[in-house]
Amino acid sequence: MHKFITLISGRGSNLAAMCKAGLAPYISCVISNNPNAKGIEIAKKNNIPVCIVNHRDFISRENFEQAISLVIDNFPSQLIVLAGFMRILSPWFIEKYPQKIINIHPSILPAFTGANAQQQAFDAKVKTTGATVHFVTEKLDHGPIIASGAMAINHDNDDVDTLCNKILKLEHILYPFVIKKILNDQVKVLANGAVEVIKDIADDKILGKFKSNIHY
Ligand code: GRF
Repeated sequence: MHKFITLISGRGSNLAAMCKAGLAPYISCVISNNPNAKGIEIAKKNNIPVCIVNHRDFISRENFEQAISLVIDNFPSQLIVLAGFMRILSPWFIEKYPQKIINIHPSILPAFTGANAQQQAFDAKVKTTGATVHFVTEKLDHGPIIASGAMAINHDNDDVDTLCNKILKLEHILYPFVIKKILNDQVKVLANGAVEVIKDIADDKILGKFKSNIHY
């Protein structure tokens, strides 16, 4: 399987889920822009090299991204996985790694882009929300969709916190699943821009109780 790099800024629960799913040996480096990110400890515990590139140490976004890119290019990687990485990436960076950067967003895209997607879904009183893994392009949260997971909102019992936790559980199954698919060359971007994910007999077992919620 190919290797990948993960970019984090905070808690790192998705990084932990990747490790739990057996992906730690395939993460060649974790890069954090935040020296205090909790995810750094998770990477260390899993023997993954960590590199802190603090955006505050740079005079411009360009310089910060050049530094990140230097790190990326020094490690073997087929894929760049954003996992709670809280910096907007410039067109320069995104164009440097075409169809190589993925992100997970806590809504069913294209609904509820941007910050506080869970709150947005809750306030809109929609009955279903979820999480989406997509390729990163210049327009925030608008890149080609690889897979989405859906879950019901119970407006009588849920509040935004319970909703965030439920979505996070879904993310923790969905993200490692998609990463493995990409690393196994089972994801292709078609000429019309849609993404084809090749199905496998092992998929249902991996997705477990989430199998009917996840669409790809
Ligand atoms: C998740 O909610 C993810 O959807 C969003 O950022 C959050 C990261 O959480 N992109 P964690 O740092 O992985 O716990």
